[in-house]
Amino acid sequence: MSFTLKIKDFVDYVSSYFAKKPTSTFISKPVPGKYILVTGGAGYIGSHTVLELCKNGHDVVVVDNLCNSVEDSLKRVEIITGKKVPFHLVDVRDKENLNKIFDQYDFWAVIHFAGLKSVYESVQYPEKYMNNNVEGTRTLVECMIEHKVNNIVFSSSATLYGEPKNMDPLTEEADLGPINPYGESKLKAEQVITELFKEYEMGQACLLRYFNPIGADVSGLIGENPKDIPNNLLPYITQTLVGKLEYLRVFGNDYPTRDGTGVRDYVHVVDLADGHLAALEKLRENEEIRAGAKASLDERVLIYNMGTGTGYSVLEVVDSMNKASGKEVPYKITDRREGDAAQVVACPAKANKELKWYTRFDVNVMCADAWRWQSQNPDGYENPSQFVLDLLEKYKKENAEKAEAQQ
Ligand SMILES: NC(=O)c1ccc[n+]([C@@H]2O[C@H](COP(=O)([O-])OP(=O)(O)OC[C@H]3O[C@@H](n4cnc5c(N)ncnc54)[C@H](O)[C@@H]3O)[C@@H](O)[C@H]2O)c1
Repeated sequence: MSFTLKIKDFVDYVSSYFAKKPTSTFISKPVPGKYILVTGGAGYIGSHTVLELCKNGHDVVVVDNLCNSVEDSLKRVEIITGKKVPFHLVDVRDKENLNKIFDQYDFWAVIHFAGLKSVYESVQYPEKYMNNNVEGTRTLVECMIEHKVNNIVFSSSATLYGEPKNMDPLTEEADLGPINPYGESKLKAEQVITELFKEYEMGQACLLRYFNPIGADVSGLIGENPKDIPNNLLPYITQTLVGKLEYLRVFGNDYPTRDGTGVRDYVHVVDLADGHLAALEKLRENEEIRAGAKASLDERVLIYNMGTGTGYSVLEVVDSMNKASGKEVPYKITDRREGDAAQVVACPAKANKELKWYTRFDVNVMCADAWRWQSQNPDGYENPSQFVLDLLEKYKKENAEKAEAQQ
């Protein structure tokens, strides 16, 4: 393996890229003196969201039991932003310790990522998924209510829609019918939030149904870092390219799609992270508009699909990754996998209109960013490349200079 990326090349790339696109389309206003609690914030989507929150000036506290992540992701976020992110090693099902964190900080909102996400594992251990994802959500929302923290943004999933009957883009009104315990646990967790907020009339939620998050922050300093063999397409591909896995299995090439392989709606994780800021902004605005007046449950619990509205086939993603990496992803076509639909694509119109959230990045950028992360961090947060070490030093130096200038 050779890691020849130089800081100068990287800075040139980022400058040319962001000359065309702003670093964050979304500006979300912090609530002065108040914190946002991010559960599961050390994980893949959580760490990217914490980064965007910090860039927007929010004060963030993270709770994570590190069952599928490492604290180093947050240390890197701190280095990139120069902002402290208090971390607490707590399981969200541990009410006693969770309550202590609610006592310690004045939260105005919670973003709830903490959960298990492997469809495959959920089929083997359905109880584990129900307990972690559903009871974790229940305990968290009970703590929120006891501490009068009114706002939650929840990581839900397009797996709630099960196997769509046709290939049309899915709206939030599409039939629900999860076909595995993971999807069932996410549906049940949505219901738990809704039921608890039926009683607690100040409660407001955005339930965000993610399609297929991929990519990484443009810095290449944080990214997806599964502890086990990845279940999702992108980390599987990138780990194959760095030699950790032998080849990619493509499940079926006889679907009624452009090239016969399954089509999914991939969304850049930074776009998705910005979607959480957009959701927070919506909750804050609604709270201001209502000014304490009562609102119906439907007005307080809002559901949004988080996808781009554009689908890419497995082979199109492979092709983009070949271009991004300058390598060839080795793959074999195998039989279809049970429960896989031909096409699952979001209709993001509701999130576009109501959250003013639009995605910016296409599949080529998603793959380039995912590859930068994986190639510079082949062992995740351990044994980083020289490029990563240099870039971390660069950020540290810049932050120290900024801090000195402010004194
Ligand atoms: N990545 C996807 O494709 C995808 C798609 C749809 C929905 N989601 C949901 O988004 C959320 C974040 O996903 P991700 O991809 O970042 O996964 P991830 O595994 O990287 O992050 C989840 C984090 O939650 C932590 N965690 C799990 N159970 C916990 C518990 N009981 N208490 C405290 N911390 C706990 C893990 O250690 C991890 O840091 C999950 O809830 C997942 O179900 C993910």
